[in-house]
Amino acid sequence: MNVTDTSTDDLRVGVIGLGFAGSTHLDAFTDLPGATVVALAGQEPARLEELGRSRGVPHLYADWQDLVARDDLDIVSIGVPNDLHHPIAMAALQSGKHVFCEKPLATTGDLAAEMVAEAKAADRVLEVAYNHRRRADVAFLGDFLADDPIGEIYHARASWLRRSAIPGLGSWFTSRATAGGGPLIDLGSHVLDIALHLMGEPRVVTASAVTYNELGRRGRGGGTKVPASSDGTHAFDVEDFASALLRFDTGASLLLQASWASYSKNHEDIEVELLGSTGGARLHVDDYSTEGTLTLYSDVEGVPTVARPAVHVPAGHHRTVIAGFLEAIRQGEGASAPRYTNHYGEYALHRSRVVDAIYASAAAGHEVEVEGEAL
Ligand SMILES: NC(=O)c1ccc[n+]([C@@H]2O[C@H](COP(=O)([O-])OP(=O)(O)OC[C@H]3O[C@@H](n4cnc5c(N)ncnc54)[C@H](O)[C@@H]3O)[C@@H](O)[C@H]2O)c1
Repeated sequence: MNVTDTSTDDLRVGVIGLGFAGSTHLDAFTDLPGATVVALAGQEPARLEELGRSRGVPHLYADWQDLVARDDLDIVSIGVPNDLHHPIAMAALQSGKHVFCEKPLATTGDLAAEMVAEAKAADRVLEVAYNHRRRADVAFLGDFLADDPIGEIYHARASWLRRSAIPGLGSWFTSRATAGGGPLIDLGSHVLDIALHLMGEPRVVTASAVTYNELGRRGRGGGTKVPASSDGTHAFDVEDFASALLRFDTGASLLLQASWASYSKNHEDIEVELLGSTGGARLHVDDYSTEGTLTLYSDVEGVPTVARPAVHVPAGHHRTVIAGFLEAIRQGEGASAPRYTNHYGEYALHRSRVVDAIYASAAAGHEVEVEGEAL
């Protein structure tokens, strides 16, 4: 163990995972002030060496257990297949580390609840990478809605639809055992997060859902982007399309849809539409577009009016989440420090409960209740 790798008071970070998620975490923690990445783990030896060398990370491991066993880390950052989020987070929290975890928090709500309980017991920050919510256009909409310009939001539609982009047929993404589900848990959780955030965190009380697997099980709909750890050995036993009607404790509702592959729109299509009693708002991100994503609907002097705010969306949303995570750790030091509502991953737990209910409803063929914890 070498506790003298850095000479500053930086928070010491260990990053696990070398794919899109892990390398994005690595770059964000490396670039942001106040943190130093001292350890990196992943199972692709050449990439591990290359990332370690180019980013100046001194301690490299194949297995996450060896990284988490270090007693000089303040933070463990998790960018690995979904089924490993729970064991890694539990081990890290139990050894006193703060945790930055990729979405979904876990493959089931019960596992997510254990993680949140452990974060509370250990009083460590548990933050989840809902990076798309940090887009500048979503932040703009959030600020706009704070002034109540569209009245009561009674219905919303949120979707992330891909035409043909299953992330690696036969990869861990397409197996229920390793991923917990298909596009609903992968992409749907992002747009669910955006919608709940913009609607002021109402609680989802019931879900009525359907899921289909019409293309993936036939070996169709595969994308060109293949995950770092794709070994082609996993069965396709998750959905490739999901659609759910969610009811809130406020009486409002949300139609949520997600697909990895469907004969619908081209590319990637992200949409969140809010219907209010005096106006409406629509976020439409077409193939990761960064301009012209917002439309606002209202009446001016009784005349239907459309506005298109010119909000530019810079890249780097993970960086924004991680900057907030580092700030939460700093703010959380000391018993009198202000607490963030989502300090221990509570919002992510509710999203996991909603995903559970959607899968349960689809399996049962009728509406089901969402398990709930008080925030
Ligand atoms: N927030 C986002 O925008 C976003 C985007 C992509 C992926 N993700 C999430 O990030 C996570 C990883 O996705 P990805 O696309 O980077 O996957 P990936 O398959 O490309 O990478 C997974 C990494 O985990 C490593 N790994 C697996 N088992 C390990 C072990 N026992 N010890 C150490 N390392 C191990 C692999 O070696 C690999 O480097 C998933 O939870 C996914 O949902 C989030």
